[in-house]
Amino acid sequence: MSAPVTSVKFGDNSLDLPVKSGSVGPSVIDIGKLYAQSGMFTYDPGFTSTAACESKITYIDGDEGILLYRGFPIEQLAEHGDFLETCYLLLYGELPTAAQKADFDYRVTRHTMVHDQMQRFFQGFRRDAHPMAVMVAAVGALSAFYHDSTDITDETQRMVASMRMIAKVPTLAAMAFKYSIGQPFVYPLNSLDYTSNFLRMCFAVPAEEYQVNKVLSRALDRIFILHADHEQNASTSTVRLAGSSGANPFACIAAGIACLWGPAHGGANEAALKMLEEIGHVENIPKYIAKAKDKNDPFRLMGFGHRVYKNYDPRAKIMQKTTHEVLAELGVKDDPLLDIAIELERIALHDEYFIEKKLYPNVDFYSGITLKAMGFPTTMFTVLFALARTVGWIAQWKEMIEDPSQKIGRPRQLYTGSARREYSPMAQRR
Ligand code: CMC
Repeated sequence: MSAPVTSVKFGDNSLDLPVKSGSVGPSVIDIGKLYAQSGMFTYDPGFTSTAACESKITYIDGDEGILLYRGFPIEQLAEHGDFLETCYLLLYGELPTAAQKADFDYRVTRHTMVHDQMQRFFQGFRRDAHPMAVMVAAVGALSAFYHDSTDITDETQRMVASMRMIAKVPTLAAMAFKYSIGQPFVYPLNSLDYTSNFLRMCFAVPAEEYQVNKVLSRALDRIFILHADHEQNASTSTVRLAGSSGANPFACIAAGIACLWGPAHGGANEAALKMLEEIGHVENIPKYIAKAKDKNDPFRLMGFGHRVYKNYDPRAKIMQKTTHEVLAELGVKDDPLLDIAIELERIALHDEYFIEKKLYPNVDFYSGITLKAMGFPTTMFTVLFALARTVGWIAQWKEMIEDPSQKIGRPRQLYTGSARREYSPMAQRR
């Protein structure tokens, strides 16, 4: 049986292009030979209709509000599993057995320390540096410290680099936080689970005993699960593109962190909280809704809308529940920001503009309130996102490197600049 094709007409010519189907979701038209056969490129800035790769890791149905990691619904993973189980699943494709999980936890835990000279690397930063700036540099710098895991052609080195990053990014994130507040770095404590260890590295001080709050640790672990992967978003595509040239994995993840920093992507949780603070009171919400709807005003409701979800972001629902759990645990009865968030969401969900454009709260809408209540400053929010997303980036990077058809990513362009013209000596220019 011949493969399905679709015919595309160009003036008087028509071309038969192969159609490929996935396991679920839309099929794709394979345009790999289009230029050779028609002399034309396709044009899709922002990749709104372009599948850049084949992947088996994460599936999103934006219309239905469905998110699956390796086929498993995000709700089930967040409810029943822990973050390292999700890491294993994303990396290896299957849920671990008890023995596999214990071995994986052990391996990650044994990589949590960073080279002690990294401390001196940190000293080079100003104390008021944004921790995302520090993270871009520190994760990139890992390639200068761990030469024995930068050969991407060696499967063992690829896995060692992967484990190192899953284990060390929390340590670096906590160091970036500690440095910004002038407190001493706290070494990892490997008797703790992944997320409890991270909380301790952030909030313990040498002068006092630190007790992990299990409710907060579980909540943060769940937040990490929600952020672990999200198929071919901007930062993941950045990691894949950087990796396609053969760059080492630490450099690729640093590139992903840089991309994540932007307010349209991972920086939205920081921006959403700042927006709630700026709104200040529920009375002011209508003014901000009007600003968001005004075409001449660049203001957008941060934490609202998504390129793929045209329905409620499934992560936002879990996030909202987690927010309530955390605030209850911390005894926060009346959080004015939460009141504003709930009312803003209620009004927006009933407003014609947001309904028509299918703008729903996304994962970042509630995460800022939760992280703030836990004691993280706004500048750390995107760092926590990067920590969780590291495993997704790594899984996607590995999938790409291990794909035999992989080649360097090299988009083309629609050139609208000057046609050829001759150089004129400076004295003759007007
Ligand atoms: N507030 C008000 N209007 C909006 C918003 C918003 N948050 N988002 C989109 N719109 C409008 C936009 O003005 C446009 O209107 P029109 O068709 O009249 O020009 C329409 O909706 C479509 O917007 P778009 O910018 O073409 O959509 P996009 O798919 O390119 O953008 C987005 C997606 C997430 C960048 C955007 O919704 C946005 O800027 N949201 C706020 C930032 C945010 O919360 N980002 C976090 C995303 S989730 C976490 C992550 O994955 O990183």
